[in-house]
Amino acid sequence: MAKANVPGHLAIIMDGNGRWASRRGRPRWMGHVRGAHTAREVVAHCARVGVTDLTLYAFSSDNWKRPREEVGFLLDLFTSHLDRQLAALLSNGIRLSIIGRRDRLPPALVAAIADAEARTAHGTRMHLRVAIDYSSRTAIEEAFSRRQEGQVDAPLDSLLPQVDLLLRTGGERRLSDFLLWECAYAELAFLDVHFPDLSTADLDTVFADYAKRERRFGDVGASGQLAPVP
Ligand code: IPE
Ligand code: IPE
Ligand code: MG
Repeated sequence: MAKANVPGHLAIIMDGNGRWASRRGRPRWMGHVRGAHTAREVVAHCARVGVTDLTLYAFSSDNWKRPREEVGFLLDLFTSHLDRQLAALLSNGIRLSIIGRRDRLPPALVAAIADAEARTAHGTRMHLRVAIDYSSRTAIEEAFSRRQEGQVDAPLDSLLPQVDLLLRTGGERRLSDFLLWECAYAELAFLDVHFPDLSTADLDTVFADYAKRERRFGDVGASGQLAPVP
C-alpha cells in the first residue's frame, strides 16, 4: 500500500527534453541525456516516498515520426540506461517491466529489456513500468483481443491498472495516447517545467497538492454523506 499522501500509481509523461536543450542552444539529444538523468532521480525518489507503481512514458509509437538520428539516439540511450540502472533497481527492490511493442525495437534493446525484466522480477518495493513504442489505443485493443481469444481471464483493470495521478511536464496539457483506459479517474497535474529540470521538490509539491484532493469516483464525497435529508 502507498503512504496516505502519495499516489499508489503515478504515471509521468516525461515531456520537454527537446525544448530544454533548444532553449540552451544545444542539440535535442542533450535534452534526452539530461532527461535520462532526471528519470533516475524520479525513480529513486518515488520508491523512497512510497509510490508502489510508477509508469513512465519514454517513447510513443508516434515518436517513430521523428528524424532517424533522434530515434536512433533515443533507442541507444534506453539500451545503455537499462544496463547502467540494473544494479540500482536490484538494490532498491524495484521490479521493471517495459510496456509497448517490442517487434520494432533493435535486438540489443530487446535483449537488455528481457535481461532487466528477468533479473528484477522479484522486486516488491515498487513496480516501475517504462512505456517504449507505446500507444494506449493499441494496448487497449490488445488487452481486449487477448481476453476475447481466451488467452487471459484477468479483469481488464489488472491488465491495464488504474492510475491515481498523472503528471505531464513540459507545459502541454494533453495525453498523447498514454494510458487512456487507466486514467479513467486519475487526478491530473501539469507542470510547465521541462522534464530535465523536474526536481524532487517539484514532485513533493505535486504530491502535496494530490493529498488535498477529494476523489469521489462519482459518489457525493465526505461532505455530501453528512448532509441531512430534508
Ligand atoms: C520527451 O521530450 C521525450 C520523448 C518524447 C522521447 P521531447 O523530445 O518531446 O521534448 P519536446 O517536447 O520536443 O521539448
Ligand atoms: C509524448 O510526448 C511522448 C513522450 C513523452 C514519450 P510528445 O512530445 O511525443 O507528444 P506531443 O507530440 O507533444 O503530443
Ligand atoms: Mg514533446
